[in-house]
Amino acid sequence: MLTSIWEIRPEQKIEHPAPFPIELPTRCIYSILDGKPGNVIDPYAGSGTTLVAAKLLGCNYLGIEIAEGYVRMARERLRNYEKEWTKVQAELENHKVRKTFKQRKKEGLSVGKFANRKKAEEGKQKRLWEGIEKR
Ligand SMILES: C[S@@+](CC[C@H](N)C(=O)[O-])C[C@H]1O[C@@H](n2cnc3c(N)ncnc32)[C@H](O)[C@@H]1O
Repeated sequence: MLTSIWEIRPEQKIEHPAPFPIELPTRCIYSILDGKPGNVIDPYAGSGTTLVAAKLLGCNYLGIEIAEGYVRMARERLRNYEKEWTKVQAELENHKVRKTFKQRKKEGLSVGKFANRKKAEEGKQKRLWEGIEKR
């Protein structure tokens, strides 16, 4: 579920000093374009994360990058873009609304600062018991 605070793990496998985790541009592009294809421009493309996200989301993309080595890296990632689908797909799952805010609050589920602490505690207890009963 998405809230106004985004917690995304840093990217550690890409050989660039400051790569985005692919979840970040995926979330921005998907949210801004409302899931529809559009045009994405990244004027500081680096290793091409935003471009890969755009490609996987069916968008047109244009990257600008000053360092030749990173241009090569971005091109390589774009050639193998399917490899990054799993992460993008997992991020898209976060955009599905399974319960409304009202339902979540009523059931004591996560609603950030609007949490009903008493309900949340009851909900936690209930889920704990359900877990124990299932065993
Ligand atoms: C923070 S990194 C972007 C990282 C990128 N989001 C990724 O996921 O890999 C910024 C990039 O901008 C590039 N850059 C800096 N000045 C630039 C300029 N004037 N024109 C184009 N690219 C530039 C750097 O070489 C660097 O790769």
